[in-house]
Amino acid sequence: MKKILCISGSLRPTSTNTNILKAIPHLAEWPDLSFSIYEGLDQLPYFSPELDYEGSTPAATVADLRAQLKAADAVIVCTPEYAFGVPGVLKNALDWIVSSGEFVDKPTAVISASPMATGGDKANASLVQTLKVMTATITEDRILIIPTVRTKIDAVGNVTDEGLKTALVKIVESLKTAFLHPGNN
Ligand SMILES: Cc1cc2nc3c(=O)[nH]c(=O)nc-3n(C[C@H](O)[C@H](O)[C@H](O)COP(=O)(O)O)c2cc1C
Repeated sequence: MKKILCISGSLRPTSTNTNILKAIPHLAEWPDLSFSIYEGLDQLPYFSPELDYEGSTPAATVADLRAQLKAADAVIVCTPEYAFGVPGVLKNALDWIVSSGEFVDKPTAVISASPMATGGDKANASLVQTLKVMTATITEDRILIIPTVRTKIDAVGNVTDEGLKTALVKIVESLKTAFLHPGNN
């Protein structure tokens, strides 16, 4: 069983981005995969290098994020864009991982979703850049920008757009490829 950790960049209880992550496991039969959603984004302390030096004891919430990432075989991030950038809460979480290195060689997918026609493309590009500098393994087929998302997912979180369903399934299939060829993913 391979573990996929899903991280939403939105704290909203009715977030479309979180709903997309919740929908993914139900889009196909994946008996060899387990999906979980990281819930602690709003519990993390603000990152400061002063709190993150060699030999320091991290806050329990930071240790938990690192442990969940370490245990994951792959990660899917799905985020909105705020003011043309990555939501601060998500960037804060990623800053805690720079020194500890849980993203090193981690097969990772980056999705952005927005009601706008641009689909959060600038946040998506920025997030890819941040994760790549942390040496996450992000191939082109693991990057997805979802424009006009509210026409593609209903109010209770069902993906209603066939094209989006196909694109999301392809993302998971790409991560599965990485499991088959570790070290070459
Ligand atoms: C403060 C703020 C800034 C936003 N900036 C952008 C933006 O730059 N680009 C964009 O596509 N949408 C922007 N939006 C709209 C979000 O994409 C929209 O609220 C989206 O539904 C949030 O995702 P969620 O449903 O997962 O919470 C912004 C929303 C807020 C509240």
